[in-house]
Formats: sequence, structure tokens, C-alpha cells
Amino acid sequence: MDEPLIGDVFGEMIRDAYAVRTGRGPRPLAGGRVPRPVIEVIERDDGLINGALADHYLDEPAEWQPHDHRALRLCRGHVLDIGVGAGRTAIEIQRRGMAVTGLDTSRGAIEVARRRGLRDTVLNTIDAYAVAGARYDTFLLLGNNLGLLESRQRAPIFLDALARLANPGARIIAQGTDPYGTTDPVHVSYHRRNRERGRLGGQLRLRLRYRMLATEWFDYLNCSIEELSALLTGTRWRLKSIDDEDRPYYLAVMELIS
Ligand SMILES: C[S@@+](CC[C@H](N)C(=O)[O-])C[C@H]1O[C@@H](n2cnc3c(N)ncnc32)[C@H](O)[C@@H]1O
Repeated sequence: MDEPLIGDVFGEMIRDAYAVRTGRGPRPLAGGRVPRPVIEVIERDDGLINGALADHYLDEPAEWQPHDHRALRLCRGHVLDIGVGAGRTAIEIQRRGMAVTGLDTSRGAIEVARRRGLRDTVLNTIDAYAVAGARYDTFLLLGNNLGLLESRQRAPIFLDALARLANPGARIIAQGTDPYGTTDPVHVSYHRRNRERGRLGGQLRLRLRYRMLATEWFDYLNCSIEELSALLTGTRWRLKSIDDEDRPYYLAVMELIS
């Protein structure tokens, strides 16, 4: 059997989702006739496979989760939206007259965000961008992108890159998910398996698939608030507040230690 090619899975998927929602650009067709919904396929390293509609990455504010609205109210100064995707939140911040830059590692996602009107974009990793000399007041990690902390090893490196990009008084506003409320045996045993391997329970090892493409396997972290506090120890960030009104989802606000 041929292995899938490694490529810009998120970008290809979001281009097609944009075409299906707007009718602009070539659409994936079922049987060559009917536009078909675009599905994000997520594989986990215990064999679990999940599919989710990709269309929500293009949601307008009226379709958002309540915590997304509360996150935007916390933004101030120049905002760096990290893992901006199709520009869902950055475009709304821009519409409100605030300075916002959207950063993503996916060329296709940046292309779609620009086509939708986002003016200031960066196609780069946060690590490479941290040496560019730009400075921000708010770092946004929405759409569960607190997950980009990845692991106990990666989190301090990621947080250090943000500190290098930070103005005095800067804040990180991140949406995360506490994974431990579940009683689903598939997830409970995955958390146990991770801990037995020295990983955090909710340290997911994933790869995304779309049509002929796959990503490399990567870590994406769902952590409890206690675990997040522990990850901040020894970094230049401290936990300022937690909004867990939409449990198991939460918004964590972290501030730069002056
Ligand atoms: C779950 S989506 C969230 C998109 C957007 N924030 C939203 O709420 O609609 C994750 C996004 O992060 C991007 N991404 C993944 N790894 C990244 C990394 N290491 N640095 C920057 N962006 C990354 C993906 O390309 C994708 O656009």
C-alpha cells in the first residue's frame, strides 16, 4: 500500500471548505456533480480515528462559541493571532479597528485568510518569527490552540518565543480543553497509557489526513488548569485568570512577568 504524501493538509482542507461555503474556487465533488462537505480526519496514535466538518473554521461571529466572544473582549494593543487558520477571529479583530497579525505554518490557511480580507499575515513558525524583532501586546491561541504547547519539553520553548515577541505587560489569551472530565473508556485508557510512557495524560499524538495528504505525527496538548500552572513554572509567564464557564473548554489568561 502507498503511504500518503506529507503536505499542507490544513491548507488543502481549508481551501476546499472555503470553496464549498462560498462557491469560489474548485470544489471537491461527490460523483463529479454534487459539492461534498469537507471533513477533517484526525488520527490518534492509539488507532482512534475521528472526522469533523471543517466548515466551522470559516464561521462568522454569530456562529462562534461564547468563549470566543469573551476572548476577543480581552484583546488589547497589537494582537498576534497564532495558528490563525482561515482568519476567523483575526478578521473580526481587524474589523473592530484593532491592529492584528495572523501567523500560521500553513500556506493554504494564510492564502484563504488573505482572500477573506486579513491584511497582515506571517507564514512562519513562532520560533523563527521570534527573532524578527516584532512586538505584540496580546497573543491569541483560539480554536483549542493552547494545544500548541505540545508537551512538557516543548511548552517552555514556545513560551520563551512568545516572551521574546512581547511588549511589557503583554498577555496570552488561550483556549484549552481539560481532558479529564470524560468517562469514555477509550479516552480514559489513552490518558493512562500516556502517563505510563512519561507523557502528560492529554498529550495527544496526532496526524491529520485530507484526501491524498497527511501531516507528520505531532503532539497537541489538552491539559488541566493544574497542569498548565505547572508548565508555566520557571517561564516568564504567570497565570492571571481562568474562565471555565464553558467547561471542559476554558480560556486562560497569562501575563508577562515584568
Ligand atoms: C485548530 S486550528 C485553529 C484555527 C483558528 N485559530 C480558529 O480558531 O479557527 C489550528 C491552526 O494552527 C495552525 N498551526 C498548527 N501548528 C502550528 C504551529 N506550530 N505554529 C503556528 N500555527 C500552527 C494550523 O495550520 C491551523 O491553522
